[in-house]
Amino acid sequence: MDIPTAITWMAAQLMLSGAVSVGVFYSFLIYKGLMSERFASTINSTFQYFMLSVPVARVDDIVEAKSERYTPLVDSQKATEVRDFRHIEVRDVTFNYGISDEAVLRNLSFEVSRGDKIVITGPSGSGKSTLFKLLAAAEPLQHGHMALNGIAWPNLAVDEIRRHMAHMRQGDIILHGSIADNVTLFAGNADEDRVHKLLADVGLLDDVMRLPMRTRTMISDTIANISAGQRQRLLLARALYQDREVLMLDEPTSNLDPASVRHIEGLLQSLNRTVVVITHDMSLASSFDVRYRFVDGGLVRDAQAQTPELADAIDE
Ligand SMILES: Nc1ncnc2c1ncn2[C@@H]1O[C@H](COP(=O)(O)OP(=O)(O)OP(=O)(O)O)[C@@H](O)[C@H]1O
Ligand SMILES: [Mg+2]
Repeated sequence: MDIPTAITWMAAQLMLSGAVSVGVFYSFLIYKGLMSERFASTINSTFQYFMLSVPVARVDDIVEAKSERYTPLVDSQKATEVRDFRHIEVRDVTFNYGISDEAVLRNLSFEVSRGDKIVITGPSGSGKSTLFKLLAAAEPLQHGHMALNGIAWPNLAVDEIRRHMAHMRQGDIILHGSIADNVTLFAGNADEDRVHKLLADVGLLDDVMRLPMRTRTMISDTIANISAGQRQRLLLARALYQDREVLMLDEPTSNLDPASVRHIEGLLQSLNRTVVVITHDMSLASSFDVRYRFVDGGLVRDAQAQTPELADAIDE
């Protein structure tokens, strides 16, 4: 018998023995009910009060977050001054996410010049995506030297750097909208011909044209009405639509079948753009002449004449 039932039972015994009247017994029951209800609600409120610290801490994080170094309005003209991408230099860069964390990048040096086609490989967690975040100014330069066209990173506004880069991230998401919206990122004056051309370039146009609503078909990550490989090619089309000089693609083919990988290989090599690709796929990597591998937080350039088989063996 639980405690409330035991109390009621005792009160009933008192009433039956004549110690209290029937009226007092019923009043007792009503007040007992009210009291336990209030008691439960007090406990609930106390619990909610302590739980409040969780969202307050999140809001605190957001309020305390350092703002990005956006180009001030008065200097917006300056942001367009670095017009053409020529060269990015990364020298002796060391980077860690938290003060107490071990460095992810250690004395890393790397260069990208206009027109280069570069592939970066390396074990999971070695720092490949982190390097891309630094190049795209999504993470700050902490130690070392980085320069765009010879202008040191601290003298550049983030806009000046990003306007040259199309960055396809590993965690990029499909937004709730049409296929076309997802390629153009909801651009107001979207170029439909280019959307069709890019969907064809990434090998997705036939799939899209079979849908009743074609490029107007609504998609989203929650509806999950496109396959992982289709999603990846759509994200690639989105990166291409931005029409930036430097394409930084983080694992663009991890969900594709070998034939589709070969198709994307051909596309990337044919582009009149600077391309830097991160991949675990050695068949994609072997289509690039310039290959770097992550070793101990730094980048090591593979020998030019190296065969894909040898690269495979080294990677294992
Ligand atoms: N936002 C973050 N905060 C803290 N640590 C992070 C963050 N992002 C990555 N790391 C850590 O930094 C290291 C490098 O991560 P990164 O994403 O650059 O690896 P990667 O080489 O791209 O791996 P993968 O091949 O699995 O994509 C990992 O140990 C990871 O745990
Ligand atoms: Mg990664």
